[in-house]
Amino acid sequence: MEIPAPLCLLGTYIWAPLAASGPPPLRSPSTLLAALFCAHYLHRAVIQPLISPRRSPSHIIVPLMATVYQLCNGSLLGAFLSSGEVAPAAWDSPAFWAWLCLFAAGMAGNIYHDNLLMSLRRRTHAAAKEKNEKPHYGVPRGGLFALVSYPNYLCEWLEWLGWAMASTVRTGFPPKYLTPPWVFLLSELCVMLPRAVSGHGWYKQKFDDYPRERKAVIPWLL
Ligand SMILES: NC(=O)c1ccc[n+]([C@@H]2O[C@H](COP(=O)([O-])OP(=O)(O)OC[C@H]3O[C@@H](n4cnc5c(N)ncnc54)[C@H](OP(=O)(O)O)[C@@H]3O)[C@@H](O)[C@H]2O)c1
Repeated sequence: MEIPAPLCLLGTYIWAPLAASGPPPLRSPSTLLAALFCAHYLHRAVIQPLISPRRSPSHIIVPLMATVYQLCNGSLLGAFLSSGEVAPAAWDSPAFWAWLCLFAAGMAGNIYHDNLLMSLRRRTHAAAKEKNEKPHYGVPRGGLFALVSYPNYLCEWLEWLGWAMASTVRTGFPPKYLTPPWVFLLSELCVMLPRAVSGHGWYKQKFDDYPRERKAVIPWLL
């Protein structure tokens, strides 16, 4: 359901509907940002489903809405990145590369914590199968799970924060208007924050020994 995002981004990037003279050159901040977005979704939509244990079924409306969202988001981001709004001079700015380091750290953290959850799921499901019980969830541990219940979400936000900040280097922060990278980050926050807060509440209710100091998604705060 997430594969439309990189495909639409690539499509509108090459089409460049808002640019006066075609898409930016290959060696440009815009092309690098587009490539990094595609790398994230290549992992999320192609590699992760291949290595992930089977997920619990969800209502059909969830993948349908996610697909529509990805179509719109990918197209908007592609059109924005190819429009010339991302300053070519950002390439020579240390700030651009520093924000991309945050992107890379966020992506690595997101994948690492997703992998911890996947192996926990394999263990809890195997144990339940052995005892002929219904599959159940466990208390995730390792990495930033010491601080929050949803470190995979936190890392994903940091990843897209780095990406959005990199897109504003040399055009100035805050941007003149709510650009698509910021709309994308805000929409992720709006969708994932309530899920993290309610999931955290569920963990605390379900497990008597759930670590008391652990927060939902922002270390020490929320
Ligand atoms: N959810 C969103 O709205 C959203 C939006 C944008 C990006 N993402 C990204 O998508 C990735 C996956 O997030 P998600 O919310 O879809 O899934 P998730 O709740 O993080 O779960 C991922 C996998 O781990 C299993 N799992 C989770 N908690 C477990 C526990 N306590 N014990 C055993 N197994 C457990 C789940 O099993 P089940 O399938 O059985 O539940 C599922 O297979 C993350 O990197 C996130 O940042 C999510």
